[in-house]
Amino acid sequence: MNRKDEHVSLAKAFHDKQKNEFDFVRVIHNPLPQTAVADVDLSTQAAGFTLSSPFYINAMTGGSEKTKKINQNLAIVAREADLMIATGSVSAALKDPSLADTYTIVRQEYPHGKIIANIGAGTSVERAQEAIRLFHADALQIHLNAPQELVMPEGDRDFTNWKALIQEIHTAIDVPLIVKEVGFGMTRETINDLASLGVHTVDISGRSGTSFTQIENARRSKRELNYLADWGQSTVASLLEANEADTSMEILASGGIRNAYDIFKALCLGAKAVGTSGTVLTHLMNHGVEETIMLMKQWQEELRLLYTMVGATNIATLHQQSLIFSGPVKDWCEARGID
Ligand code: FNR
Repeated sequence: MNRKDEHVSLAKAFHDKQKNEFDFVRVIHNPLPQTAVADVDLSTQAAGFTLSSPFYINAMTGGSEKTKKINQNLAIVAREADLMIATGSVSAALKDPSLADTYTIVRQEYPHGKIIANIGAGTSVERAQEAIRLFHADALQIHLNAPQELVMPEGDRDFTNWKALIQEIHTAIDVPLIVKEVGFGMTRETINDLASLGVHTVDISGRSGTSFTQIENARRSKRELNYLADWGQSTVASLLEANEADTSMEILASGGIRNAYDIFKALCLGAKAVGTSGTVLTHLMNHGVEETIMLMKQWQEELRLLYTMVGATNIATLHQQSLIFSGPVKDWCEARGID
């Protein structure tokens, strides 16, 4: 099976709604909220854009006929719910131009959408510029996926040029840059490092949902590093780390978002916007486009209720929300000196 098709079917196969570290974050109840649902403004500023919703469809796919159809459906969902959307890594189309339409279909379906192109961290400046040109991307994501590469026998083995390339690309391109993980999370040190390269926006994409060490290992019978299925920092831990960074980095979050409550908690933890991949993909494959549009609209409606419940009318007030941590989240805070 094509590698991109395998990623999609394995992401779906492994997707479940089991407990993750968002369950160890409690929001403190406010019995006197003094707000009305009608006053809630869900909009946010992220990567230089004003978004009407504080969540977006994160990078997934493209590069085959099957994933072209998925990209088309994801674009329709994004358009109907007015969401920002990222395509999967466009490197396949940069190597083989006959695959370009498996990504450009997103622009075709969503001509006025905020659409992000995605490339790997080892990509050259020229290729990064080509990726943006491919469908007039509004922003560029560079993904950091070292554990995924190392688990793949055919994956990269040398990451020594990543920082230099990120810095060069940041200087060369004229659209916003987002540096993202792919589900292994970040620390304050990484965020400080990226800030020193000139990066203004990161998506900490943490462990909690899709695991690319698990997916890559499931693709072959001879397994390497098979014990690394849960490698990395959780999304909650990565957000707590981001709050400890020395910089004013803009933080986006993703990894393990199951519902509007997880989005809400990530926003309370400081995210400017929250990405979802595995859950929206699985819903699309199990229930189709119409029901996935309804799910996205339901999340928007539920977020309005959740904002109101804590007396918040916008994202700025959410960032001041008091939270209580337990279990592994509390352990992380203690181990890393976070109050
Ligand atoms: C991904 N993800 C991803 N990320 C990226 O930067 N480039 C890519 O090409 C892909 N490809 C991809 C394929 C599939 C099928 C999935 C499910 C995911 C990673 C994704 O953007 C996100 O960082 C993680 O999946 C964590 O979020 P969820 O899935 O737990 O919501």
